[in-house]
Parts: sequence; structure tokens; C-alpha cells
Amino acid sequence: MEGQLRRAMAARWPLLLLLGIAGGGGVLQVHGQVDNLGFINLDCGLPESAAGYVDGVTKLRFTSDGGFIDAGTNYNMSSEYITPTMGRSWHNVRSFGGGAGTRSCYTLQSLVAGLKYLIRAKFWYGNYDGLDRAPVFDLHVGVNYWTTVNISNANTPVIYEIIAVVPGESVQVCLVNTGSGTPFISALDLRPLKNGLYPMANATQGLVLLSRANFGRDDGVVLRYPDDPHDRFWIPMSKRAEWTEVSTAKKVQNIDDDSFDAPSAVMQTAITPVNSSSPVVFSWDAEPSANNPDPGYICILHFSELQPLPVNAVRQFYVTLNGQLWLGKGFTPQYLYTNAVFSSFPNNGHHQYNVSLNATANSTLPPILNALEIFSVLPTTGITTATQDVSAIAAIRGKYQVKKNWMGDPCVPKNFAWKGLGCSYAVSSPPSVTGLNLSSSGLSGNLSSSFAGLKGLQYLDLSRNNLTGSIPDTFSQLSSLTLLDLTDNLLSGSIPPGLVKRTQDGSLTLRYGNNPNLCSSGNYCQPPQKKRGSMVAVYVVVPIVAVLVILLLSVLICMRRRRQGRTSGNIKQLDEVSIMGHNSLRLDNRRFTYSELEAITNGFERVIGKGGFGKVYHGSLENGTQVAVKLRSESSDQGEQEFLAEVRINVICSRLSILMRFSLVMCMDLFGFRLRPWQKFTTRILFP
Ligand SMILES: *[C@@H]1O[C@H](CO)[C@@H](O)[C@H](O)[C@H]1NC(C)=O
Ligand SMILES: *[C@@H]1O[C@H](CO)[C@@H](O)[C@H](O)[C@H]1NC(C)=O
Ligand SMILES: *[C@@H]1O[C@H](CO)[C@@H](O)[C@H](O)[C@H]1NC(C)=O
Ligand SMILES: *[C@@H]1O[C@H](CO)[C@@H](O)[C@H](O)[C@H]1NC(C)=O
Ligand SMILES: *[C@@H]1O[C@H](CO)[C@@H](O)[C@H](O)[C@H]1NC(C)=O
Ligand SMILES: *[C@@H]1O[C@H](CO)[C@@H](O)[C@H](O)[C@H]1NC(C)=O
Ligand SMILES: *[C@@H]1O[C@H](CO)[C@@H](O)[C@H](O)[C@H]1NC(C)=O
Ligand SMILES: *[C@@H]1O[C@H](CO)[C@@H](O)[C@H](O)[C@H]1NC(C)=O
Ligand SMILES: *[C@@H]1O[C@H](CO)[C@@H](O)[C@H](O)[C@H]1NC(C)=O
Ligand SMILES: *[C@@H]1O[C@H](CO)[C@@H](O)[C@H](O)[C@H]1NC(C)=O
Repeated sequence: MEGQLRRAMAARWPLLLLLGIAGGGGVLQVHGQVDNLGFINLDCGLPESAAGYVDGVTKLRFTSDGGFIDAGTNYNMSSEYITPTMGRSWHNVRSFGGGAGTRSCYTLQSLVAGLKYLIRAKFWYGNYDGLDRAPVFDLHVGVNYWTTVNISNANTPVIYEIIAVVPGESVQVCLVNTGSGTPFISALDLRPLKNGLYPMANATQGLVLLSRANFGRDDGVVLRYPDDPHDRFWIPMSKRAEWTEVSTAKKVQNIDDDSFDAPSAVMQTAITPVNSSSPVVFSWDAEPSANNPDPGYICILHFSELQPLPVNAVRQFYVTLNGQLWLGKGFTPQYLYTNAVFSSFPNNGHHQYNVSLNATANSTLPPILNALEIFSVLPTTGITTATQDVSAIAAIRGKYQVKKNWMGDPCVPKNFAWKGLGCSYAVSSPPSVTGLNLSSSGLSGNLSSSFAGLKGLQYLDLSRNNLTGSIPDTFSQLSSLTLLDLTDNLLSGSIPPGLVKRTQDGSLTLRYGNNPNLCSSGNYCQPPQKKRGSMVAVYVVVPIVAVLVILLLSVLICMRRRRQGRTSGNIKQLDEVSIMGHNSLRLDNRRFTYSELEAITNGFERVIGKGGFGKVYHGSLENGTQVAVKLRSESSDQGEQEFLAEVRINVICSRLSILMRFSLVMCMDLFGFRLRPWQKFTTRILFP
């Protein structure tokens, strides 16, 4: 009479479907779209270029998994395993060998944070790699261990399922190589569930499916979508000799606020004992694992009366678990309505669990059973990296296309923290990113504002890349930052004042050497003076001496030219438009229109320099005065004030360049704002 539910399923159902669950959360990018039912159906290993297809049985549309993961290689199942009746999604797999890291993650997006989802991962080895060696590996959902995938042979599909509350707008499913073979996957499903369903699944625990059985149906058909709008797989439970089947063609309704929504097609069939005085008995074995040594189980029994009972007929039975009465009183199923008997809290502490349905003394009819589900409970209390850090680092990964197998949660689990990331694991707060080393990572483009989104950064090493553009001052707001290494890049512009201040007060070490275009303009071109050590002496004293020598030279030349200029045209004019001797910035009133500037520069013909704002052109005023015309480009992120400050210096430099035949850029580099005592202003250049 008694039997192992699982064994019975295996015996009659040609494909041993192992069903499992767990919960968790995650994060990240990639374009993942749910269909109009809110479903995601991924055929893993289908080439990204291939159009999706509609599954013949369910009419659900399957798509390639290419846009949901950036690791792995596509393979076809070995041809001898492919049969005409096999669903197409089994034909190919994505495999994570070789270059893939130990953890490879799918990101399922467009979800609603805090809602409950059913996630199903499917595996059919089919000797796709020709090694004929079925692997064992782990599955994680978000940062939580879900299950160990144990593929026992090449011709057995294995399916794992979890019902879990997803904390964010996306969830990650990760395959983790545990050293027992290459992880692979055939298909991945996601189904949204109303939050009232499966009340035992909540933010802190998920339900890992052990078994979902449909009784009283012997045709081997797995009921799923569209019979079940939630697309659960209801596996037909083979009939035993001691059972007889009962069924109805009438619809079985769900009660109001049904916690399980068992579909009518499943409830329309049931079993009952042949010997009406015998109980219905089944059992399952506990499956302890290293991660879950004493798993707790939740069992849900679905009942509906399928026969109109004559007056005086009573079907009433006790439900017992391991000999303990489950319900205090007898239970009577309702005619054509679903009812469920279930445990709200997990049962644990046993190697085996026996359930029996025994008729009460008053009952005139034997017990009945329509369907059942058995889950193990999995804690989903793994704490994810702080949300703002996750968004920032995801944006950085996206912008620079970082190829370091950055998948899954950045800091959790600890042993899978992203390469190049430093994390802190304080007890009182979620893990956060405290360091980022992207040295020699082939980065190009400008400095992402997302770096400044990592508020807890203590070091940021971006050395040896091809980063361009200017350094944003937002870095100076990272109060914990003590090391910023920008060495060996192609950065331009100047060191922003906030950072200069941080280096001067000693709270930050800034390295920016070997950026050929950096500091070619603007006010803050001194090397940061953290300590007046011997190197500082070299950095500071040498340029100062050089500047003084050149200043002296230029004063001499200038004075000589000025004397000459009194008698010779051009230079005299140049002096007349200048204003002498103010420390604060003052600007001449003279303004130019764009067309005048075109004329002055002869159509922007000759570029004599290039700085943080844009190009610098050579020009001549009507009176022959030679000027440098600097364009403030639209894309420049420096403000007008800074531009004007720079114009001031340019003017001085442009004059020096005439006098001394220095190139403008050279002049700027050498003198910067050290020319302050000599500040003279001639023109203000405005742009439409
Ligand atoms: C898999 O098989 C299909 C045809 O069945 C073929 O077009 C495709 O190239 C194969 N893919 C691989 C990775 O061998
Ligand atoms: C995988 O399953 C096989 C047979 O079912 C068992 O012998 C083996 O110990 C399992 N391996 C792991 C790692 O669970
Ligand atoms: C989830 O359910 C378990 C068992 O009922 C309970 O102990 C736990 O507090 C619940 N968690 C939340 C977040 O409600
Ligand atoms: C029916 O079950 C009862 C109790 O289990 C048993 O005593 C009886 O012999 C059984 N009848 C038949 C016909 O097997
Ligand atoms: C469950 O039933 C089996 C077979 O009747 C029995 O050997 C086992 O002791 C029972 N287990 C429990 C926990 O009652
Ligand atoms: C129900 O039947 C089982 C198996 O025959 C038996 O062990 C159990 O004691 C019975 N329980 C009740 C309440 O009759
Ligand atoms: C059986 O029926 C009697 C009389 O109707 C009633 O008093 C008793 O409570 C019933 N027992 C159960 C278990 O329902
Ligand atoms: C970053 O990594 C490189 C090697 O990859 C190492 O040389 C450098 O010291 C690291 N930077 C920091 C700040 O740890
Ligand atoms: C910078 O880019 C050039 C050309 O694209 C490339 O050759 C070089 O290796 C890059 N350097 C770094 C440090 O990434
Ligand atoms: C970097 O470049 C992008 C696109 O070119 C632009 O939108 C962004 O504002 C720039 N960021 C900075 C800090 O310059």
C-alpha cells in the first residue's frame, strides 16, 4: 500500500523530473523583456541571431538567452539523444567551461520589486560536449544558494524550481562551478505569481520544489500552461494497484482568495483507495545537503469532491503526518471547489515523512486525493551589496564594457566578489564597495560620474588605461577616498580645485603622471603638494626657478619691445588695448561677434593650441594686433568663470608668444597662473 512518491513518479513517468526551489535577490543590466503574460522563456544556447520561436504545445514564445548573460558557449545536444517529440528548447545548451569564471549569472529584468516569482531552470545533458560525463554544480538565486544540480545521466532531463520573493527589479540565476564538471543549462523560465499565492514564501524564505503531483491521470501528460495560468508543471502520478481513479468533466472552481490556485484540469482527477476502509498513504525522504543539513518541508494537499454525494453519504478523513494528527478534526472536501490542507511552518528533524489520509468513523466513503506539492524551505536571508553601490558599479561595468567576468552580486557571496573590487562586510550595514582597481583594464572614454556614486570608496586605481576628457571635481566629495590613481591615461584639462584642496590638506594621494594633455590649461596646474619632501622640492623648485628665469627674460624683452613699440606700429597698438596691474579679474569691454571673430582668425584657419575648453586659433585685429582666440566648445564641462579665467591667461600668453615666439601651449604650461602680478586684459571673446 505504501510507496515512495518519488520512486513511483520515476517508474511511470518516462522522464524523471526532479523538481526543486529556493529564494533570493540580485541586480544588474542587460536587455531582458518579459512577454505579455509577464513570462520569460529562454532557450539557452540558441544563437542570439536566431529568431525566437513559438513552442508547439504551450504556444509560449522562446527567445535566445544571449541578451541575458555575457558568458558561455552554445552547443547542440548530441544527435543520438534528440527525439522527434522532444521540445525544441532541449536541443541546445549554453555551457560555462574554459574562459567562463566559477560563477556565471543570468540577469532576468523588468520585474516588480517585492513580488513573488516562480523560477525554473532546466537541464538535459545529452552528451553535448562529447565527454559523456554528466556534471554536478550549484545554482544560486541572487546571493542565495538554491540547489545542487546533480545530472545523473545523459538522457534524463532535470528541472529545478523555486518560488521566491524578488527584492529588486531584476533577479540573477547563477551557475557555480564546484569542481565536478562544467556547468551548463538548457532553458530558464520565470513566471510571476500573485503575492497572495504560496503565503509560506516570503522575503526571508523561498520554496524549493521537491514534487508536484497530479493524481488520477494516467496518460503521462504534464499539465502546465495554458491549463495552469501560472505554468506550474503538474506531473501525472502513476496509478497504484491499491488506488482507483475518480474524475469529473465539470469545472472545479478555486475558492475566493485561494492560496494556491490549483487549476481545474488538475483538480478534475483524483485517486481513492480500492478498499474503502484503507487509508491513502505516501512518504518522502529528507534530502539533507551540506548547505541545508536539516531541511524543513512544507506539504500542500489539494482536495475537491468530484462526485455529487447522495444524502447520508459522508466523505470525511483525518490527515496525519508521521502519525500525528495534522488537522484536529476530520476533513470533508467541497464538491467542485478546491481546498488545500497544508503546513504553514516547515516540518523537520526526520529522515522520512509519512502522510496518511484515514477515513473517520462517521465517514461512509474513503479518502480522496487530487494533487499534492512538497517543498523544502530555503532561507533567502543573504544580504546583497548596498543598492546604490550596485547601481553605480553596474553603470561602470556597462560604460566601459568591463571584461572581468563581473556577474552576480558585486560583493556577495564573499568568495565570488568581483575581481578588482574591495568590499567591506560590516555587521550593521549591507556589504559595500570600498575599493576599485581597474588598472590596465583597457578602459577608454571619459571618467564616468558613476565612480562618484561609490560613496564608500577608499581607493580608486584607474591607471594604465586610455581614459580621456577632464577630471570631474565630484571625486573630491568622496570623503573616504585616500588614493586616486589616474596615472598613464589620456586625460586633459586641469586638476579640479576640490581635488587640489584634498591633496593639499593631506587627505588624498592623487597620482596623475603621464597624462600628456593634463594641466595644459586652467588654474590648478601645480603638482599636489602633500609633503615638502625631496621630490616635492624637485617638482616645485625647478619649475619656479624656470618660471622666474623666463619671467625675467620676458620682462626684459617686453620692456625692450615696448620701447621699440613706441616708434613702431604693431606693438604700440598692442599695449594700448591692455590694462595694467590688477589682481582681480577685470575684463575689457570690447566684444566681438562671431562673424568678426571669423574675420579676425581668417575663418579659424590656424590652430595654435588646444586646451581643456577647445581649440585656440591665431588671429589679427584690424589694427594688426596679434591675438589668440580660444573657443569654448559646447561639450566643455568647465564653467564660464573658469573659461574667463583662462582667457585672461591666454591673453598674456598670446602676447608673450608674439614677443618670445613661444607656442601658446608651452606658455600655458610654463606659466600658468603664476603670472598674476602681471595680469593684463585685452579682449573678451564671446560666442553665440
Ligand atoms: C546546432 O544545430 C543547428 C542545426 O540543427 C546548426 O544550425 C547549428 O550551427 C548547430 N550549432 C552548433 C553550435 O553546433
Ligand atoms: C549525485 O547523484 C549521485 C547518484 O544519484 C550520487 O551518488 C552522488 O553522490 C551525487 N553527487 C552529489 C555531489 O550530490
Ligand atoms: C516568513 O515566514 C516565516 C515562517 O512563517 C517567518 O518565520 C518569517 O518571519 C517570515 N518572514 C517575513 C519577512 O515575513
Ligand atoms: C480492506 O482493508 C481493511 C483494513 O485495512 C482490511 O481489514 C480488509 O481485509 C481489506 N479488504 C480487502 C478486500 O482487502
Ligand atoms: C514511515 O513509514 C515507514 C513504512 O511504513 C516506516 O518504516 C517509518 O518508520 C515511518 N516513518 C515515520 C517517521 O513515521
Ligand atoms: C491512519 O492510517 C495509518 C496507516 O494505516 C495509521 O498508521 C494511523 O494510525 C491511522 N491514523 C488514524 C488517526 O487513524
Ligand atoms: C460523527 O457523528 C456523530 C453524530 O452525528 C457526531 O457527534 C460526531 O462528532 C461525528 N464525529 C466526527 C469525527 O465528525
Ligand atoms: C591594482 O592592481 C595592480 C595590478 O593589477 C597593482 O599593481 C596595483 O597596486 C593595484 N592598485 C591598488 C591601489 O591596489
Ligand atoms: C590605448 O588604445 C590603443 C589604441 O586603441 C591601444 O593600442 C593601447 O593598447 C591602449 N592602451 C591601454 C593602456 O589600454
Ligand atoms: C562623458 O561622456 C558622455 C557621453 O559622451 C557624456 O554624456 C558625459 O556627460 C561625460 N561625462 C563627463 C563627466 O564628462
